[in-house]
Amino acid sequence: MLKRLQDAAAYLNEKINGLRPQIGIITGTGLGDITALMGLMHRIPYSHIPHFPIPTTESHRGNLLFGETRGKRIVAMEGRLHAYEGYSPDEVTFPVRLMSLLGVKHLFISSAAGGLNPNYEAGNFMAITDHINFTGLSALCGPNLELFGPRFPDMSRAYDRDLIRTAEKIACQQGIHLHKGVYIGVLGPNLETPAETRFYRNSGADAIGMSTVLEATVGVHCGMRILAIVVITNVNLPDCMGETSLEMVIDAAKNAAPALALLWNNIIAEISV
Ligand code: HPA
Repeated sequence: MLKRLQDAAAYLNEKINGLRPQIGIITGTGLGDITALMGLMHRIPYSHIPHFPIPTTESHRGNLLFGETRGKRIVAMEGRLHAYEGYSPDEVTFPVRLMSLLGVKHLFISSAAGGLNPNYEAGNFMAITDHINFTGLSALCGPNLELFGPRFPDMSRAYDRDLIRTAEKIACQQGIHLHKGVYIGVLGPNLETPAETRFYRNSGADAIGMSTVLEATVGVHCGMRILAIVVITNVNLPDCMGETSLEMVIDAAKNAAPALALLWNNIIAEISV
């Protein structure tokens, strides 16, 4: 595993002339605008990067983007890998470990999520303060990669409190209300039944999705500071459960994408790396 990651990092370092990215960005369904605002320097197809997980279908084609946003050096994923597509936890998190080898210390994650908190509405934003990994998976199983971090990483402060405070401040300046809440990560790909929804809400979660937790856990293991902001694309209330379609999720994410992109840009401008 380590050798594969080091091969990939060596390939990229040559391509990007040793530019050391400071911030890694992973965006989800319909939220690609975030990367559109960056000054692009290199776009490298996943398929060219040694050992990068092979996309299984045409629609999963992706690129790793390198560039600059508000004076900070960025690496961003254009196209995400989900466990429900059949990728192993090691594959899903390969890009995070790769970013770590390239020098990334700040990991910014966005995704679409279903709202479980009845006070949430579609189109709202939520900063993740904590998560529940309910996928049954972890990329930290097997021999520990000592180069990255310890066998038993502490998860008491997985999401960086200072970054959340900064995000709240910037959101407020933009006139956006940023909820703060707990995200529960499930495997998917099916959406939840009403009974499952009640169970997940009772577990203390405010939002639910099929990504983020594996990546964030590996980010913590690598010693990264993590900020994750999700877009609530639909709200699931167990006693009057509406249907949710992929189109609804993508539409809501696309509508929210410009404001989210601006939010990320202003956060990137504000923080010191
Ligand atoms: N459930 C799980 N994942 C999701 C949802 C949902 O309702 N909406 C967007 N991603």
